[in-house]
Amino acid sequence: MENYKVDILISDKDITQRVNELGKIISASYSDTNKLIVVGLLRGSFMFIADLVRCLDIPVEVDFITVSSYGSEMFSSGNVKILKDLDGDINGHDVLLVEDIVDTGKTLEAVIEMLETRVPNSIKVCALLNKQSRRISNIKADWIGFEIPDEFVVGYGIDYDQRNRNLPYIGKVVK
Ligand code: IMP
Ligand code: MG
Repeated sequence: MENYKVDILISDKDITQRVNELGKIISASYSDTNKLIVVGLLRGSFMFIADLVRCLDIPVEVDFITVSSYGSEMFSSGNVKILKDLDGDINGHDVLLVEDIVDTGKTLEAVIEMLETRVPNSIKVCALLNKQSRRISNIKADWIGFEIPDEFVVGYGIDYDQRNRNLPYIGKVVK
């Protein structure tokens, strides 16, 4: 494996503080539904969703979906490849999609289009990180943890070649 180092971009303390804030804002926003399903896009969102749902003080279900990985040509809109589907039915429910990073936005665009065919009551998005400069689709997350520059980042669930997901902070890869 090539050599690289990881420089801290967002500390675990800053992540904890921001996830707490998001939990409060999101709880308030869903205070009048009891049909909320928080859906994590695996694998990158696993740590974020675990912390985020602990900061929600409203009734909530949790489910997960895995779609084909970054760079796949399956990502033309409406043509997302599901590797692991949701376990539950989202019809009539309020879906909160939890994503690690919105980059081009193609993944979310395709996932949302696919989930809309199942007729949920609503679909909203909470992304930990947003790389706005890379966006090529119209997707806009409803809640964002942090805006980041166009750097390759790892940690807090996010990988480089499947490594570094376990880091408690978010760092940028420096070669
Ligand atoms: P999009 O379809 O271009 O928005 O891709 C988003 C997905 O690409 C994220 O869920 C990540 O899995 C992956 N990705 C984008 N940027 C990074 C990065 O800096 N590090 C690791 N994965 C990334
Ligand atoms: Mg991902």
